[in-house]
Amino acid sequence: MRFSHALSGLSCVAAASAIACNGYSELCARKYSNITQIGTHDSAFVGWLPTENQADSVTAQLDAGIRFLQAQTHEDNSVLTMCHTSCTELNAGPLSDYLTTVKTWLDANPNEVLTLLLTNGDYVDVTLFGDVMVSTGLSSYAYTPSGQLTIDEWPTLQTMIDSGERLVVFLDYDGDTSKVPYILPEFSYFWETAYDVTDSSFSSCALDRPSGSTGAGLMYIVNHFLDLSVLGIKFPDTLALSTTNAATGSGSITAQTDLCESTWSGQKPKAVLVDYFEEGDVFTAQSLLNGL
Ligand SMILES: *[C@@H]1O[C@H](CO)[C@@H](O)[C@H](O)[C@H]1NC(C)=O
Repeated sequence: MRFSHALSGLSCVAAASAIACNGYSELCARKYSNITQIGTHDSAFVGWLPTENQADSVTAQLDAGIRFLQAQTHEDNSVLTMCHTSCTELNAGPLSDYLTTVKTWLDANPNEVLTLLLTNGDYVDVTLFGDVMVSTGLSSYAYTPSGQLTIDEWPTLQTMIDSGERLVVFLDYDGDTSKVPYILPEFSYFWETAYDVTDSSFSSCALDRPSGSTGAGLMYIVNHFLDLSVLGIKFPDTLALSTTNAATGSGSITAQTDLCESTWSGQKPKAVLVDYFEEGDVFTAQSLLNGL
């Protein structure tokens, strides 16, 4: 339902009954921290080159139902840019274009709560990320917690939708909420499993980052994308996608998350990051994880 339809006043009751949170009325009363989402790893790197990780544009990812975007940034001539490892390897354009795409989509989809996890491989000062958030208008949607939240203190999706603060932004390195209050330091809230996995059975759910953490009190992110390693260079194993991105079965999404739940006292992941999400059956896995 587009916001303009609600404003038209023609069918508010019918529209209201159709309102759900991230597509499901069952999710409205659930806390943000108690919902698992499939996330697109390297969401900005679109294509089938070895340096690319998704087939669909960011808008198409969101339209398909992705509500957790992960994206890599680097500094290119003082401009924050979507680059893969370096801007000579792959340059997918400025962060401002990427964030404008997200802003446009949120404008058109008022009942959706989105998470954006940005990486900051060049340790750029967080105020520069804040500048782009403001210049693109995206900061107006950003959720600003009153302080460091425990897992239980997160609001429900409905609360976030009602407040209009329905974009949660994390930065892996050098987030500082005293400088930009809505860019949350990832590892104050999450731990992650290892990335660049080459074991197709995904037989581990060990904590990889932040090193030395016990994971206590944190949500966690599972990196469920498979790489091939050729002469030490890793790239997405696209031939294995139907197995890697399957909902169930050996090497599948829930095979690994079941292992995670048994390893981590029944806690479910907050996000499962995948490559080429349109392959396999990732939304079935997401529904299973959310009990839908
Ligand atoms: C998470 O949501 C499920 C389904 O509504 C509920 O049964 C469970 O108690 C919730 N857990 C927490 C920690 O809120």
